[in-house]
Amino acid sequence: ISVDWDAVTAEKGGYDHFMLKEIHEQPNAYRNTMLGRIDESGRKVVFPGLNLSDEKIRSINSIHVIACGTAYHAGLVGGAAIERLVRIPVSFDVASEYRYRSPLITPETLVIVVSQSGETADTLAALREAHANGAHVLAITNVVGSSIARDADDVIATLAGPEIAVASTKAYTSQLIAFYLFALYMAQARGTQTEEEVAHIVAAMQALPEQVESMLENSDAIKAYAEQISTHEHLFFIGRGLDYAVAQEGSLKLKEISYIHSEAYAAGELKHGTLALIEEGIPVIALATQESVLEKTVSNIKEVKARGADVMAITHEEHVAGLLKSVDQAFAIPKTLPLLTPALSVVPLQLLAYYASLARGNDVDKPRNLAKSVTVE
Ligand code: G6P
Repeated sequence: ISVDWDAVTAEKGGYDHFMLKEIHEQPNAYRNTMLGRIDESGRKVVFPGLNLSDEKIRSINSIHVIACGTAYHAGLVGGAAIERLVRIPVSFDVASEYRYRSPLITPETLVIVVSQSGETADTLAALREAHANGAHVLAITNVVGSSIARDADDVIATLAGPEIAVASTKAYTSQLIAFYLFALYMAQARGTQTEEEVAHIVAAMQALPEQVESMLENSDAIKAYAEQISTHEHLFFIGRGLDYAVAQEGSLKLKEISYIHSEAYAAGELKHGTLALIEEGIPVIALATQESVLEKTVSNIKEVKARGADVMAITHEEHVAGLLKSVDQAFAIPKTLPLLTPALSVVPLQLLAYYASLARGNDVDKPRNLAKSVTVE
């Protein structure tokens, strides 16, 4: 008997690629990142071992979120969650830019660095700069023994498990979960959310893993759409607010592994230049999950539709029928709180990138020119 077996195949656990395996590991990654951080009553977030005292949290007057690549995109969502729930101003920087803009750093600044690997040179350098200027540095990382974890004052481990595919998936979503938890933790310390409000958000977070599972079980439509776009060379992602943040991650994911050129645009900004690039048949992926700006997003969808774009929308079931008056196709994602929606809406975009890459015959797990961890500036 001969058995066709090798170590890598075994590690892929029955999946064709690490990326697909890691996409499917997300429900458990969400659970692991929440584990031990929500008390039994479900009404309080706890972070055993964090050095940051409640008193220190109350003294913070600005937050800088710093990261690279996908981790930066998680930071955009996470920082927005903090700003919304805690009402402290948050700024965002890609790590390679941070030091060179002379940022205002004081002992009342909390710097949050986000890094899957914990080894990214730019992020590490930004962390050291922040430290040297007296900031308290919190690292959100997937590797607890990493350089970034060692140099930070506090670490929140994402507990997503090892991520092998260059294109990050479960690390990103578990970074979102870590951010949501930390935002709630800060809100508790500063009294900006009631116990009732915290419990409400926590309950919605605990439902996320099953909601992701349901999306993963129904991925055929996304696969078909991926095959449809795989023959294109250019496309756009649009969205407003958190949808825009997710659009940026969806666009990066697609570029990284399918090599299709794509741009993520704030939907309302299109008319200030980029609309000139919209021509007959160009795919536009519109994220339309944020109810507070839905009408505005729909009017931006109409702008691209009127110029011949082929629009696919990602939205909630209740808006599918209405949106189908303005778009060519619509995919429904499960309903959660608007703030938590990125933890669901990114999943179809990960699958889209995966299947588009596959359709183009690319090396999904090891895209050209890219490395999993970048230790040079
Ligand atoms: C590389 C990877 C990206 C990743 C970025 C930041 O460019 O290819 O997927 O998002 O580094 O990595 P980090 O480990 O700091 O999250």
